[in-house]
Amino acid sequence: MIGRRVLFPPLPNECYAVIYADPPWDYKGQLQHAGPGSGDSGGAIRHYETVQLQDLIELDVSSIAADDSLLFMWATSPHLDQAIDLGKAWGFAWATVAFVWDKQRVNPGFYTMSQCELCLVFKRGRIPAPRGARNVRQLVSERRSDHSRKPIEVRRRIEEMFPRQRKIELFARDADIHGWDTWGAEIPHPQTERTFWQDQREAAGT
Ligand SMILES: C[S@@+](CC[C@H](N)C(=O)[O-])C[C@H]1O[C@@H](n2cnc3c(N)ncnc32)[C@H](O)[C@@H]1O
Repeated sequence: MIGRRVLFPPLPNECYAVIYADPPWDYKGQLQHAGPGSGDSGGAIRHYETVQLQDLIELDVSSIAADDSLLFMWATSPHLDQAIDLGKAWGFAWATVAFVWDKQRVNPGFYTMSQCELCLVFKRGRIPAPRGARNVRQLVSERRSDHSRKPIEVRRRIEEMFPRQRKIELFARDADIHGWDTWGAEIPHPQTERTFWQDQREAAGT
């Protein structure tokens, strides 16, 4: 029998009230900002492996979601419909746009010059209690840095809103984030200290 393809590192055996995810959306191999006149080299595919929606749906995020929990999820504009489908497939109800990130730089697009990225929020059960700050702003204006690197300010605002809840960042790049658990292909496994990519490359003999 041929074994199932391993798509993801194992998720923790824990439950979280706040889940913050930045999925590696698939661009069908195309550059992310391939609008007219684009000299852009920012295609996601050049920086990390991307994952198709039907595979992202396979990730059992509902198994780590507390009965009352929120999912904050980044979505690039062309992936908005997929992002809403994904949040629902992971067992959450669509809520609203939590954050709008003004990157303070424009990229060519097919319709308008793109400048913003959205962080959506989905809900399972009730909004986790106790709540912290209720006056957190939606708009984050921060100049874009490295490819797909999100502003720390968004995580900080989520902490302000839910200071007491257990939190995890999915598809994280940095392992040590104070107050958060982290999971992703670039995060070393706590026991083996190896990343998913290292194990995959070894299994493939490359
Ligand atoms: C959009 S980036 C996340 C960027 C991050 N939020 C930041 O601010 O730096 C997506 C991440 O998903 C990771 N990734 C890609 N395929 C994965 C997989 N199959 N399982 C887990 N993580 C994966 C990539 O290595 C990359 O770090």
